[in-house]
Amino acid sequence: MIVDLLRFMTCGSVDDGKSTLIGRLLFETKKVYDDQLRALASDSKAFGTQGEKLDFALLVDGLQAEREQGITIDVAYRFFATDRRRLIVADTPGHEQYTRNMATAASTVDVAILLVDARKGILVQTRRHSRIARLMGIRSVVLAVNKMDLVEWSKERFETIVAEYRVFAESIGIDDVTAIPISALMGENIIAPAPDTVPWYQGPTLLGWLEHIPVRPRGTRQGFAMPVQWVSRPNADFRGFAGRISSGTVQVGDRVRVSPSGQESTIARLVGGNADLSEASQGQSVTLVLADEIDISRGDVIAAKQEPILHSSQFDADLIWMHEHHLLSGRPYLIQLHRKTAVAQITDIKYRVDINSGSHLAAKTLEMNEIGTVNLSIDRTVPFAPYQEDPGLGAFILIDRLTNETVGAGMIRHALRRDDNIHTQALTITKTERSALKMQTPRCLWFTGLSGSGKSTMANLLEQRLFAEGKHTYLLDGDNIRHGLNRDLGFTEADRVENIRRVAEVAKLMVDAGLIVLVSFISPFREDRAMARSHFDEGEFFEIFVDAPLAICEGRDTKGLYAKARRGDLKNFTGIDSPYEAPETPELHLHTDRLTPDETLHVLLASLR
Ligand code: ADX
Repeated sequence: MIVDLLRFMTCGSVDDGKSTLIGRLLFETKKVYDDQLRALASDSKAFGTQGEKLDFALLVDGLQAEREQGITIDVAYRFFATDRRRLIVADTPGHEQYTRNMATAASTVDVAILLVDARKGILVQTRRHSRIARLMGIRSVVLAVNKMDLVEWSKERFETIVAEYRVFAESIGIDDVTAIPISALMGENIIAPAPDTVPWYQGPTLLGWLEHIPVRPRGTRQGFAMPVQWVSRPNADFRGFAGRISSGTVQVGDRVRVSPSGQESTIARLVGGNADLSEASQGQSVTLVLADEIDISRGDVIAAKQEPILHSSQFDADLIWMHEHHLLSGRPYLIQLHRKTAVAQITDIKYRVDINSGSHLAAKTLEMNEIGTVNLSIDRTVPFAPYQEDPGLGAFILIDRLTNETVGAGMIRHALRRDDNIHTQALTITKTERSALKMQTPRCLWFTGLSGSGKSTMANLLEQRLFAEGKHTYLLDGDNIRHGLNRDLGFTEADRVENIRRVAEVAKLMVDAGLIVLVSFISPFREDRAMARSHFDEGEFFEIFVDAPLAICEGRDTKGLYAKARRGDLKNFTGIDSPYEAPETPELHLHTDRLTPDETLHVLLASLR
């Protein structure tokens, strides 16, 4: 009878024999199931119980959803089985994006096969892959020393390689290493032992190891926890919370506590597939029915009462950067942490890890495939667990808000503070009252455009006009703010992102105070203007694109900066060697090259009224 399931991955450099090995395993077991996930999910014979079937359906849905959102996962999952165990191998075909694919695969598996070429021994790549695997929570590896036939099955060679690896593995916290001399091409020690060829080796074959290694939970957390994937309400009498148990075991009758609300209840029913269960544990997909009517939504976590789940919005995390475009501190990214989606910013890069030596290097950004430790701030309080305690509650991905591409994958180390201790102070006097006293509707009028396009001129004219009408206004101008609040910032991409983040926060406070705020900043990036907009209520934010062709702005060159930039004396100048992303749907588009300032003001006033 087929009992349980082991997920594993193979890592190795090009030409170490990864494909040959997987091919041999699949071929020899002669029970190769179709590697199409769809087909598997609907094939009830491949999977014993309804519960498992649901599991695979969930997996398929997850992958499908990721595809639809444009998140590409470059890992192929191949399924096969022996009489003892079902096996899933996460195969990572990528080359240049190898770190990213490896990390994706490593986050889903229990153990790793690390292939080395007996002739080459332990390489930089071997260390790199081991480090990533460990970071992703893998603690058991098999060191498969391949191509042993090419070194005449030398016991000495094998032992040298193994000794070197053991020292390294121990230094990074991989505590369970099994070494096997193999030839993937010839098949020795893959499925069957080869006593004639390798009389000195009495250990397990690779498949034997895969069949017998105990499946350890990936995290250390013992207590029950389950992030809620959806609320199932097929009829008025039934309300269940479906999800996949990320740690521990749960039984009918157990007391549970919901994070972040803190409400408590008792498990009334446990449903797996179509059948009621008395107990379920880590890895199983179930639907929980609670004894009390309490408010729970997607992304909340139901956990054992005596081991509740923490929640916070500020974290210390390990991060693997996966995108060609480097990480920008202060830029808002979408974060997906178990079933919760929110907006997150990296507030600090503490260090970058040298993947070969493990040493910590100072860093201002992370480039593609780099790994670092960062501080992360999320726009709301979320339930979590440290990744090493519960990978299901501590792993996250970062997504670019405009392109929907996955840009990073991370693992929470710990919370920087417990939000239980930081409250939002309710102010007695509200925005409505503040603006009523001023007899106006507060607004944020955001002027964006190239240097020399006329932002400041127009914002200034408009403010004079509003002031004359008795309005309470304030003008935040890039040049001025850069002398004070933002004087520590320059014109790199990262600094501009931070520049806009700060001025958007200030504008928000001023609008809250009941003012009409005019913001005149180049604000070249669409995403940051979108972030600014997101601070305000519907209709409160008014984006004004002050537009004139670059040649005209350059011709005006009021501050002589274009000339400097053209001479190469001024770097990162917008429009010259730093981009300007024009608004796609601004509330107002002004062409300052076609109208005089007074005419433009006319258009502006008409549009505002
Ligand atoms: S933003 O891009 O970060 O929004 P901001 O509006 O604050 O820019 O500042 C732009 C002003 O700084 C310009 O009007 C110009 O006077 C000055 N400046 C100096 N160096 C640069 C540069 N490299 N690129 C753009 N503006 C510059």
